[in-house]
Amino acid sequence: MSFDPFGSTATIVVFGASGDLAKKKTFPALFGLFREGHLSSDVKIIGYARSHLEEDDFKKRISANFKGGNPETVEQFLKLTSYISGPYDTDEGYQTLLKSIEDYEAANNVSTPERLFYLALPPSVFTTVASQLKKNVYSETGKTRIIVEKPFGHDLESSRQLQKDLSPLFTEEELYRIDHYLGKEMVKNLLVLRFGNELFNGVWNKNHIKSIQISFKEAFGTDGRGGYFDSIGIVRDVMQNHLLQVLTLLTMDRPVSFDPEAVRDEKVKILKAFDALDPEDILLGQYGKSEDGSKPGYLDDSTVPKDSKCVTYAALGIKIHNERWEGVPIVMRAGKALDESKVEIRIQFKPVARGMFKEIQRNELVIRVQPNESIYLKINSKIPGISTETSLTDLDLTYSTRYSKDFWIPEAYEALIRDCYLGNHSNFVRDDELDVSWKLFTPLLQYIESDKSPQPEVYAYGSKGPKGLREFLNKHDYIFA
Ligand code: NDP
Ligand code: BG6
Repeated sequence: MSFDPFGSTATIVVFGASGDLAKKKTFPALFGLFREGHLSSDVKIIGYARSHLEEDDFKKRISANFKGGNPETVEQFLKLTSYISGPYDTDEGYQTLLKSIEDYEAANNVSTPERLFYLALPPSVFTTVASQLKKNVYSETGKTRIIVEKPFGHDLESSRQLQKDLSPLFTEEELYRIDHYLGKEMVKNLLVLRFGNELFNGVWNKNHIKSIQISFKEAFGTDGRGGYFDSIGIVRDVMQNHLLQVLTLLTMDRPVSFDPEAVRDEKVKILKAFDALDPEDILLGQYGKSEDGSKPGYLDDSTVPKDSKCVTYAALGIKIHNERWEGVPIVMRAGKALDESKVEIRIQFKPVARGMFKEIQRNELVIRVQPNESIYLKINSKIPGISTETSLTDLDLTYSTRYSKDFWIPEAYEALIRDCYLGNHSNFVRDDELDVSWKLFTPLLQYIESDKSPQPEVYAYGSKGPKGLREFLNKHDYIFA
């Protein structure tokens, strides 16, 4: 299938262009889209930040993380980019920016300006930049899109405040709250997998499903960013947003269509059916040194307070009270400094009646989001040959073996920037969705961060996590095969 490249008369402005996200994700994603022929070679890309950077240094900085593409492609892309240094809080830099955009639009006879602003900035300046943008660079006659990065607040109150500050400036239609997990291939596949296959659609409920688990593991710690992480913790960092998004797509009812609002309506509906998160039904951990002492513990980071109770591992029990899910135990777990990096969803089905079988195991559907995307279903099958015994084996769809190497699977940021440009909100977080998710998580976070919560259990860097994990999973009806 061929797609027309987008953005032939558009300007894309990346604020915070001197920063980490811009270097690691935003510019590499724009390059990836260009390399694959999805971003027009007539687009204009501007980096904006306060730092005084020479144009060449800026280009070297952003291209350091480009993947694939030959030197000519990199060169062609860099020709489309420029850098403007200016303050965030006064008009001057924005006026230079406006002139640059208007010159480009005039030279290209653009009658309906298309301007996409990517705010790769710390949340402390979101509102300032958004107000200045509205004042100086907003086109009343054109299309404006603003991509805002997480965190969208620190709790319910601050999220509502951010919303209150942004909503008079830009409509919900113009705002794109990015949660990059929604751009991951496997996460985007969830609705197709569930609703496009009667095999799954028909059994996706409490009558057939015994337990659900969503697990996020990272094999590295906070790596010197502990100071930043300390006020965030793993629950706020990946659970309230990334993993909750995955869980809503996994548990919501069928939307009437793929229309973004139809999908997001269902997500909000299911979130409202979640039970309050129970502080008695959690397992909290903080990583210590590795067993051999070669890797530092969280508290060894000099930027972290020595008595920090910051949680780097959490497992939460979740209950959904609706007809589909009543009584099905759900576990969401996430941790840093573990034995491997892996994100997966595990759904265990109820066992069949024992009767004719002495021993029979549960079916389990595993959706591996990363690394190495795959979907496999554990089924009982007769051991081949004269044996009459059964064993558990896999029906396996591993993307790297099933699809040819030429098949381009976009990185999450590539997919989402393209969606945003095309005006597709499906994979972005809506205001009411955000509100319900903070309502759900804020009381739990308040408990975890209060004196009432116990000291998190220390687990060794490079281990599977806190010792109580197996028991916690068993308690939630997850059986290890
Ligand atoms: P940075 O700290 O690198 O900040 C980006 C740029 O913003 C800096 O280069 C700096 O540019 C400017 N800046 C930094 N601090 C301030 C400040 N206090 N006041 C005004 N300007 C400031 O952030 P990241 O690039 O890491 O992250 C940007 C956003 O993306 C954040 O909201 C972050 O939470 C989110 N995010 C980041 C991820 C990552 O991997 N880095 C992953 C997911 C989300 P200058 O001084 O030149 O203007
Ligand atoms: C970010 C978190 O949002 O997601 C990081 O702030 C985490 O702590 C990252 O490492 C994980 O993203 P990915 O795409 O590498 O799984």
